Formats: sequence, structure tokens, C-alpha cells
Amino acid sequence: MPGFDPSDDAFVRDPHAVYSAARAAAKAPWSDTLDGWLFTRYADVEGILRDPALFSSDDSRASRPRVRRVENPAGRNLVSSDPPAHARLRRLLSQEFTPAAARRWQQRVETLTHELLDQRLVSGSLDVVADLAVPLVLRVAGELIGVPTARLGTLRSWSEAEIMAITPALDPALADQLRACSAQLHSYWGEAIAAARESAPTPSLLSRLAQGGMTRDEQLADEEIAAFLSLLLRAATHTTSNWIANSVHALLQHPDQLAQLAEAPALEPAAVEELLRYASPVQAVYRIVTEPCELHGASLRPGERVYAVIASANRDERQFEDPDELRLDRELGAQLGFGAGIHVCLGAFMARIELRVALGLLLERVPHPRCVIPLEHLAWRRTWAIRELERLPVRAG
Ligand code: HEM
Repeated sequence: MPGFDPSDDAFVRDPHAVYSAARAAAKAPWSDTLDGWLFTRYADVEGILRDPALFSSDDSRASRPRVRRVENPAGRNLVSSDPPAHARLRRLLSQEFTPAAARRWQQRVETLTHELLDQRLVSGSLDVVADLAVPLVLRVAGELIGVPTARLGTLRSWSEAEIMAITPALDPALADQLRACSAQLHSYWGEAIAAARESAPTPSLLSRLAQGGMTRDEQLADEEIAAFLSLLLRAATHTTSNWIANSVHALLQHPDQLAQLAEAPALEPAAVEELLRYASPVQAVYRIVTEPCELHGASLRPGERVYAVIASANRDERQFEDPDELRLDRELGAQLGFGAGIHVCLGAFMARIELRVALGLLLERVPHPRCVIPLEHLAWRRTWAIRELERLPVRAG
């Protein structure tokens, strides 16, 4: 049985075998590689996410903190802050992420998806990752934030390096690279905020935040805006693109469900949630213990890191019947793919729209898709925190 080791091929290929064994064990496992305890049962994962007093999001409270991001010198990034600072940032920023605000993007996402399919579907096949999912979510995030299309590739590569920071055991060379990318991204935002302040207002988030238009009575500091935009670029792109690709992969693994969808391609809300439960792109988030406590047989001490393994909680047999089966018409209780509690995903409405549009139009334009190589030969990246396929080439069946 392989352990929780993101450098182990067997684990990268199928982490669910390890999650399942960990859920059944009497005591939660500790991982040296990940430098933390792994909590894999639904009740424990939800409990950790809903208790920010006992489980802090602030990594500087860890006995062995991770590489400090330049973008975040004051620890004031939304996702890494605790109450009460978190509540202030969330209140100021959440006005932009309502269901109504997300619905305004529907048409634009459809246009962008068609454009990509027109360009890339010339030979009758396409790579769902590189030709559709990645460019689509990057374009949407770029337009939402207000980044010129020409700069998006560079911005993505800087933020990609930052994703590596979530995966621990960084070697020193990678840590240096991460700091350099983080610094470049931070200085890009600094200049962009100053330029947006000098220019006529636009509907972009950058312009609205720089000009204080959306926060009415209270202005965010430039450093807080920069930290938020860096977070947004990571949070909006790597997650959603992998959700789209992982969902197509899950459907290819379940031809009966694919056939069911082919007859009625509009995804019902329950099917969208089921695809997130089954194909969660976010495998885990972590917290820092603040008080001594006991959980799943482990004695936790302040300063220790605990991972809430969302992807495992979503397959917990205590919570879901036949959890390893994808059933689009499943009557699902709450799944944890977007997290839970005060940090629950701010972009969930937006992500659902992107998935529905991308998947719906892909199935319409690539009917009865099949993967051009055997599914078991597909390669997964070693970024454990986010489950990411290298490529997913498909053609109409
Ligand atoms: C499938 C796509 C997505 C998934 C699976 C996902 C998942 C998550 C999860 C699990 C968290 C909680 C992190 C924690 O508790 O530490 C989170 C937070 C967040 N997400 Fe998403 N996300 C997705 C897409 C998006 C999009 C499209 C946006 C923005 C447009 C976004 C913006 C955010 C932000 C700003 C937070 C921090 C919220 C806070 O700390 O209060 N996410 N997301």
C-alpha cells in the first residue's frame, strides 16, 4: 500500500486507494513528506473547515511555516487570514461574486468556448486540457480581473510556480524560483493598480478595486488588492480548468453516464455537484492547530499542520452510497469540493457556469467523445493539492 507521498507514482496515479485505507484506519496518518496529519473522513474534514478558532488558515502560526510569499508580507490574503481580518476582506470582496454577477458571464463564456472550439477542433480532435479548459478559464479570469490577453500566459506561469508552494517539501532551488515569481507578480499588480487609478473607470475588478468603486465606505490598501488578485488568479484558473478536464475524464470512465448526458446535454444542478464530488480538482487544504485536541485517534499539538482531504471526504462511504460510482442523477447531500465554513469558495457560482458551458458545448460539438489513448495511459501531474491531467486528447466517437 503506497503512502501519502506526492512523489510516488502509484499515489499520483490513484490517490483514492490511499484515501480509502486512511479512512478505515484506527488513527489518522502522519506524513513526513507533507509535514502534517491527514484527515480523510467527511465529518473530520467538515469539522476542521468549520472551526477556524481551533484550525487556523494562517501559516505563520505553524511550527515550521512554509515559504513566505512576497505577495503576502502581512498575511493579509483572504484565504490565509483568520477572523476578524478575514470577515472584513470577505465583506468587501464578496459583492463582486454574487450569483447575479456570475450569471452576467454566461454569454461571454459561451462565446469564448465556441471561439476555442472553432480554432482548435480543425482536425476533429482536441486536447481538453490545453485547447479548451486552460485557455478558457484563463481568458475568463483575465477579463474578470482586467489583464490584457497578451500578459495572461506570463501571469499564469508566475502563478503556476506559486501553486507548487502548496505542495510541501520544496527543494531550495524551487523555493528561490517561487519567491522570484511571487515578487514579479506582486510588482506587476503594483504597476497595474497605479495605472488603473490614473485611467478612466472600466467594469474590470482591477479598475473597481483600484478606484475604490466597489467597496464604498472603506478602501482596501494596495497591498491587500495585490494579494487578492494573486490569489484570484490562482484560485480561479487552476481549479476550474482541472474541474473541466477531470469531469470529462470521469465521464469517459463511465460511458453509461456519458450516454445519459448525450441525450440531454444540459447539465442539471445535481449533476454539476456530482461531478465536483467525484472529480474534485482540489484534493486538500490545510490548517494550523491552535490548541491541543484529539481527532481520528491522533493527539494534535499547537503549531502542527492538518490537511483536510476534501477529495477523500467526498468519497467517504459513511456519507455517500457507493461513493466510487459517478451517478449524475444522484440525490446528493452537501459535497465539500468548494470547501465549507467561512472560507467557502467565493467563485463557486462562476466555476459552475464555466463547467456547464464548457462541458455542454464540448459534448454538442464532439458527440460521443472518446479518448484517443487508453485512459490508463494518461499522465497526472505531481501537484498533489490540485489533481491535474497533463493532457486529455479526445475525438468524436
Ligand atoms: C472548480 C473550481 C473551484 C474549486 C474546486 C474551488 C475550491 C475552493 C476551495 C476548496 C476553497 C476553500 C479554501 C480553504 O478553505 O482554505 C476556495 C476558496 C476560494 N475560491 Fe475557489 N474554487 C474554484 C473556483 C474558483 C473561482 C472560479 C474563483 C474566482 C472567480 C474562486 C475564488 C476563490 C476565493 C477568492 C477563495 C477564498 C475564499 C476565502 O478565503 O474566504 N474559486 N475555493
